[in-house]
Amino acid sequence: MTENKKLWGGRFEKTTDEMINEFQASIAFDKRLYQEDIDGSIAHAKMLAARHIITDDDRDRIIDGLQKIRAEIDRGEFNFSVELEDIHMNIEKALTDRIGEAGGRLHTARSRNDQVALDMHLHVRRQTRAVQRLLVELQQSLVRTADKHRDVIMPGYTHLQRAQPILFAHHMLAYFSMLSRDFDRFDGVYQRADIMPLGAGALAGTTFPIDREMTARLLGFDRIYNNSLDAVSDRDYVMEFLSAASILMIHLSRLSEEIIMWCSREFSFIELDDAHCTGSSMMPQKKNPDVPELVRGKTGRVIGHLMAMLTTVKSLPLAYNKDLQEDKEGLFDAIDTIKFSLSVFAQLIGGMKLRVENMRRAVEEDFSNATDLADYLVKRGMPFRETHAIAGRIVHDCIARGIYLKDMTVDEYKQYSPLFEGDVLDAIKPETCVGNRNSLGGTSYQQVELQLQSARRVLDDERSTIGDE
Ligand code: ARG
Repeated sequence: MTENKKLWGGRFEKTTDEMINEFQASIAFDKRLYQEDIDGSIAHAKMLAARHIITDDDRDRIIDGLQKIRAEIDRGEFNFSVELEDIHMNIEKALTDRIGEAGGRLHTARSRNDQVALDMHLHVRRQTRAVQRLLVELQQSLVRTADKHRDVIMPGYTHLQRAQPILFAHHMLAYFSMLSRDFDRFDGVYQRADIMPLGAGALAGTTFPIDREMTARLLGFDRIYNNSLDAVSDRDYVMEFLSAASILMIHLSRLSEEIIMWCSREFSFIELDDAHCTGSSMMPQKKNPDVPELVRGKTGRVIGHLMAMLTTVKSLPLAYNKDLQEDKEGLFDAIDTIKFSLSVFAQLIGGMKLRVENMRRAVEEDFSNATDLADYLVKRGMPFRETHAIAGRIVHDCIARGIYLKDMTVDEYKQYSPLFEGDVLDAIKPETCVGNRNSLGGTSYQQVELQLQSARRVLDDERSTIGDE
């Protein structure tokens, strides 16, 4: 009979099959949780000592040993072993090797099931704040860009057809608002992650007189799970993180798509910084917007992680099942992907140059002021349905003559309606069209100014939510 040397090897007659070892080990990816694992163990040891479940002397040895292990991992000198499956057992074994018996007492009143749940809560909580911090940076970059180009007019689109003139700043601030909702969503994730599972044991609690409030306090948790089965089975906060991450990526993919279009020769509305683009190995003229393309592409991958996680948890019976180990790689990859995408995007927006003349031309050499022509007659008493028809006829005739609304004379206008007067040409200038859309939340200079002010207030609120670190 070969002895099974695993931390759980007692009831086994054989050692684990080599391939199975490798199949079920999570150390390759969960070593990322070492800080959280050590923080959790230190809090647990302090609580055990406070409740006289271990001695103060054992507690001090444990804490000292764990700090040394932390430093070793920090320096990249720790030897992770697949044999020991995961980060929890790698650290526990190293601790026992280092400090002997006391190390063997650390896992009293704890299971890997509540331990891994704790690590994941701590990790999601910390990473959520990191994501929120980067969100604020990108939002800042959008506000700065909007502020810098306050007066720039571009066509607004519907159906990707020029629709009405808008301020470029208005367009940027639309994305600001979308990202504010992302910020709020991540705040919800933070709140749902801010609850402590430790003390649930394997599934049913523990026979030891533990003090969960104390552990929660030491780790800065707002609340404690009040059902031990729920505590070890819950991965809602992971699903929620991935869902918030997916919606964020969808927002970035929409902005990416617009930036890619605006860079095309067909639009030529913007030019990206050379430092943010790449060339072609064959076509010497190319300057490709790889960054927004890649962000657009990575959106699929984050959505994929959400789908994988939802499917993993679907129909999973309580409480811990090994399936739950699959919660990690997708989450970690989503964290890396959104953090990287947000950082890169903040730079990209900051380095973007506007080709104002081309935007101007796109507004002038088209009919995006036709609504304003119809509104002009409405303000002189004609019902909108009739003015819409007249403006439509004028557009039709202009197209036939190869001219635009601004090229018509006042006399020509009068032939369509006696209500037209000398001021009609002013009324259809892009600046007038924009300036007149002064309804709350509209694109007028005044409304955009108000939006900028409110964006700055939102940024202040967001900064105070995440605090500094
Ligand atoms: N590596 C495991 C995971 O990531 C830790 C929990 C294992 N618990 C167990 N009873 N096998 O989920």
